[in-house]
Amino acid sequence: MGRPVATLLVLCFISVTARAAAFRVHGRLLADDAMEGGAVVPIHWTQAMNYVANFTIGTPPQPASAVIDLAGELVWTQCKQCGRCFEQGTPLFDPTASNTYRAEPCGTPLCESIPSDVRNCSGNVCAYEASTNAGDTGGKVGTDTFAVGTAKASLAFGCVVASDIDTMGGPSGIVGLGRTPWSLVTQTGVAAFSYCLAPHDAGKNSALFLGSSAKLAGGGKAASTPFVNISGNGNDLSNYYKVQLEGLKAGDAMIPLPPSGSTVLLDTFSPISFLVDGAYQAVKKAVTVAVGAPPMATPVEPFDLCFPKSGASGAAPDLVFTFRGGAAMTVAASNYLLDYKNGTVCLAMLSSARLNSTTELSLLGSLQQENIHFLFDLDKETLSFEPADCTKLS
Ligand SMILES: *[C@@H]1O[C@H](CO)[C@@H](O)[C@H](O)[C@H]1NC(C)=O
Ligand SMILES: *[C@@H]1O[C@H](CO)[C@@H](O)[C@H](O)[C@H]1NC(C)=O
Ligand SMILES: *[C@@H]1O[C@H](CO)[C@@H](O)[C@H](O)[C@H]1NC(C)=O
Ligand SMILES: *[C@@H]1O[C@H](CO)[C@@H](O)[C@H](O)[C@H]1NC(C)=O
Ligand SMILES: *[C@@H]1O[C@H](CO)[C@@H](O)[C@H](O)[C@H]1NC(C)=O
Repeated sequence: MGRPVATLLVLCFISVTARAAAFRVHGRLLADDAMEGGAVVPIHWTQAMNYVANFTIGTPPQPASAVIDLAGELVWTQCKQCGRCFEQGTPLFDPTASNTYRAEPCGTPLCESIPSDVRNCSGNVCAYEASTNAGDTGGKVGTDTFAVGTAKASLAFGCVVASDIDTMGGPSGIVGLGRTPWSLVTQTGVAAFSYCLAPHDAGKNSALFLGSSAKLAGGGKAASTPFVNISGNGNDLSNYYKVQLEGLKAGDAMIPLPPSGSTVLLDTFSPISFLVDGAYQAVKKAVTVAVGAPPMATPVEPFDLCFPKSGASGAAPDLVFTFRGGAAMTVAASNYLLDYKNGTVCLAMLSSARLNSTTELSLLGSLQQENIHFLFDLDKETLSFEPADCTKLS
């Protein structure tokens, strides 16, 4: 378990950037009567601390499984012609064994939509090389039928034949939901999607809802905040869904933020959150005081604050994040104090100084999103959320 967490610290923010302005919606949900209510995709937590969906590709269907990456630019899986690939729990996808697989030729709008610095056309096969959240990958662009939960869609995807990834702990690739032409969300043309992550230790499935099945219970508990863009020319993070943090409290204590607040990248790939340094140091202090035990002199990598479980007697406070428009999100201590291993409890948050970003950013990781139902409305450009028992929604 140590290694995947350690890879967090090499979180690469510069990925395939979605600079392509013009694109066509390539795939589409193959709506039939069963799909009237939108689609539901069961997802599960893995030892590598990711949320993963099992699905099939091709005709006849071949099994695959992929990490759900909210900011991921594309859908990709390793393919049989792989020259340099990591171990996965399912057989490599064999395009030659699928009679619905189509290799994307060069020069098509889809191929041309890939930024030229990562596209690599040779022998009329549209290929690419790109950094992803998990590492660098390269492959051919193809199209095939995907059956993901109750969704069936024809999707363009990366048929990966080389990567520098050591392991993803079982999954064969990534399903990106990011703001790019090639993500699952854009390709299926849905106006909204939502997800609700069950507590990682609950042993229950979580769910991703696509299209009209994506809705909150409402009833006065839901809060809403607009998506924002990053101004200035820092890293290109256009693939991320971003919101503006304007207030933060630990229990009753105000946590200082920069005057204009902090832009927060929403993420499901990283299990832990990153806070702008000043806010992080204040949270660290508040949690240390509340827990009332001396922190370990040498925290377990990659964490910065750990306590021996036996000594941690005090009650850590709720963290309340207030986003633009007053939308308040409560993160309970159980969502940020991670029962790690060897009788150790660690703060599942780090300073964003560790990300070496040129912009002052924060990032909300998946552990802090447990038992909150998040709805991404792509028409209204808003994020809505409400507390929920996510074990009951899948
Ligand atoms: C941040 O910069 C330091 C010093 O240059 C480097 O050691 C570290 O690997 C970098 N971290 C990331 C996440 O790039
Ligand atoms: C997903 O697929 C893997 C590999 O085939 C399998 O081991 C696992 O049990 C499946 N998980 C779920 C929740 O379906
Ligand atoms: C493009 O692909 C060819 C053949 O696979 C390879 O030799 C070449 O290095 C690649 N170029 C780039 C820029 O990736
Ligand atoms: C953010 O940028 C995108 C793409 O340039 C644009 O469509 C959108 O309206 C912008 N949103 C805001 C809130 O400025
Ligand atoms: C577990 O903790 C004990 C006491 O702090 C330490 O001696 C031991 O090396 C630790 N084991 C692991 C696997 O981290």
